[in-house]
Amino acid sequence: MLWLLACHTIEKFATDDAVATCGDTILTPQLGYSSSDRDPADVDEASFGSAPDPYHVRYSWSGDPAAEATILWRTDEDTLASQVQVWQEGSEPQAVAGASFTFNTGGGRVHEVPLCNLAPGTTYAYRAGGEGHWSAEYSFTTAPAAGSDVPVLFATAGDARDNQATWSALLDQIETYSPDFLLFTGDAVDFGSNMDEWDAFLDAGVGFMESHAMVLVHGNHEFYAENYFGLVAQPGDEKTFSLDYGPLHLAVLDDSASAEDRAAQAQWLDGDLGATKQAWKVVSHHMPAYSSCTTHGSDTELQEVWSPVEEDNGVQLDFTGHNHNYERSVPLRGGNEVSPGEGTVYVVAAGAGADLYANEMANPFTQVAEVTEHFVLTTIDGAAADVVARDLAGNEIDRFSVDR
Ligand SMILES: [Fe+2]
Repeated sequence: MLWLLACHTIEKFATDDAVATCGDTILTPQLGYSSSDRDPADVDEASFGSAPDPYHVRYSWSGDPAAEATILWRTDEDTLASQVQVWQEGSEPQAVAGASFTFNTGGGRVHEVPLCNLAPGTTYAYRAGGEGHWSAEYSFTTAPAAGSDVPVLFATAGDARDNQATWSALLDQIETYSPDFLLFTGDAVDFGSNMDEWDAFLDAGVGFMESHAMVLVHGNHEFYAENYFGLVAQPGDEKTFSLDYGPLHLAVLDDSASAEDRAAQAQWLDGDLGATKQAWKVVSHHMPAYSSCTTHGSDTELQEVWSPVEEDNGVQLDFTGHNHNYERSVPLRGGNEVSPGEGTVYVVAAGAGADLYANEMANPFTQVAEVTEHFVLTTIDGAAADVVARDLAGNEIDRFSVDR
């Protein structure tokens, strides 16, 4: 049975600061199925264990990316100091305290410091830890204000599973294009409660994730493990949520759910997409509604419950993983090809390391299919989006554009 963490009040370490924690903050609202002690530790800024130096420091989003950020990192279990110093160039550092927690399947202690009242499109420097045990200094740039018509570049990849060496090499390639953020379409690991796999997944992100958000989709191989919920800081319940980044509205769904939950998410999505005024609407989840992958094929239930909601609400792009190859559909509406701009293009990006699957079903909805490790770069610029898929060596394997 799922249970919710009690609301934990984060103490504000410095008063009257422009940057502060976000009041009553639930660090990770859904921590899996076990019920052992996972309460956030009391904040103690002078308490350090045997390995207090922060590692896997990450810039994440658990609220509005234009105004809020969550810095998270890991230490040994006994280190309770959870502090971030944050500053803009030329100004004095502000100290903000957060809190921390452990979970059952290893991983030491996870520290989270939510930052609020940030300015959009603004670069902040920071370091995490506590006095005498600070991380290196990093920086992040907040999202442009929602609705602003600025160019956005985001990368998409998925399905590292048990081949983290390939994921690491792929992320090295992705970094050379300097995306604003990364969308990972699920199955980061082979078994969600395997901490060694999560360690390797996050090791690959060192040098990138300190300054770029990685938005994670929950995949079926995450198994709703507490490692997933403990190691991410994302909006809402951390698996079904939406956020805005400049002109982009991104909605993330959890398709590991039951048919009943999928139907409930369809209702949520309809309200979410209906309410947004953003020019660009992208949806991401793990299992493709449309796929010619020989192993899994299409998820026909999702064709029934989610695709109509996306297509009726003008979603231009749907990104998934799960079927280990690259595939791009023709623009679809109700399963039929429509003119560009009148339907949703379904893209499978599932080549971040997992064993590749054949793609031989040759459905009429398939425009392009490539069986190779890959990532996708989407550039939104005004009324057009250019989407480029590249293989592990950086070679282009597909390119298309979408008009809004
Ligand atoms: Fe999967």
